[in-house]
Amino acid sequence: MKRDVIVACDFPTAEQTLAFLDGFSDEKPFVKIGMELYYGAGPEIVRAIKARGHKIFLDLKLHDIPNTVKKAMHVLSALDVDICNLHCAGGLDMMRAAVEGLTREDGTRPLLIGVTQLTSIDQTRMENELLINRPLPEVVMQYAQNAKAAGLDGVVCSPLEAEKVHSVCGDGFLTVTPGIRFADGAVGDQQRVTTPAKAREIGSDYIVVGRPITAADDPVAAYRRCVKEFAGE
Ligand code: C5P
Repeated sequence: MKRDVIVACDFPTAEQTLAFLDGFSDEKPFVKIGMELYYGAGPEIVRAIKARGHKIFLDLKLHDIPNTVKKAMHVLSALDVDICNLHCAGGLDMMRAAVEGLTREDGTRPLLIGVTQLTSIDQTRMENELLINRPLPEVVMQYAQNAKAAGLDGVVCSPLEAEKVHSVCGDGFLTVTPGIRFADGAVGDQQRVTTPAKAREIGSDYIVVGRPITAADDPVAAYRRCVKEFAGE
């Protein structure tokens, strides 16, 4: 299904993550596992969450030479995750190799999405540290087009960029967007935020939501509210 709420399970241990998921009885949220949890708990936490019936976005942002990424993607594909990702900055050959590595013998594979420029990189840093002297939105769109050309399924981007990505890469190219906050919630360290309802209007395919759900007094109620708002109900 396209359009879903992905819960960022940014917990340090498998125990905390599974205890959090125990709170959900009827629904099985799409779960994002990031570097901290994966490096700490290993592939076993992916298998455990999969066995409970959740879909998984494994957010490891691979970035290496094509051969290394291809082999690593082959391993992740065997873990049966639903979405995984890489840095578009690794180049077209690396992205093509990733698609090859992910593709199973029967032709199926997890969705693969690209990180364009990290939201922690602004125009000044990009120019002064990375020596890229082009406007940031132009760089983001070029990386998105590279990802599409390499056969990726979409990109991670700010919800505010989702509309432009769709206009440049087509509506079928997925936009996965973090930086989501409820209208009455705390913004925290996210710079540019959007509500689930607004993300829907702009055309986000998947929203990634962490603390508004994980740190809520009632995470299940917060998840349900998020799903409802994103569904336009
Ligand atoms: O708690 P919060 O809703 O801010 O969590 C957002 C999640 O999305 C975190 O796991 C964060 O690492 C991830 N993310 C992000 N911004 C990006 C890429 C990923 O917030 N540009």
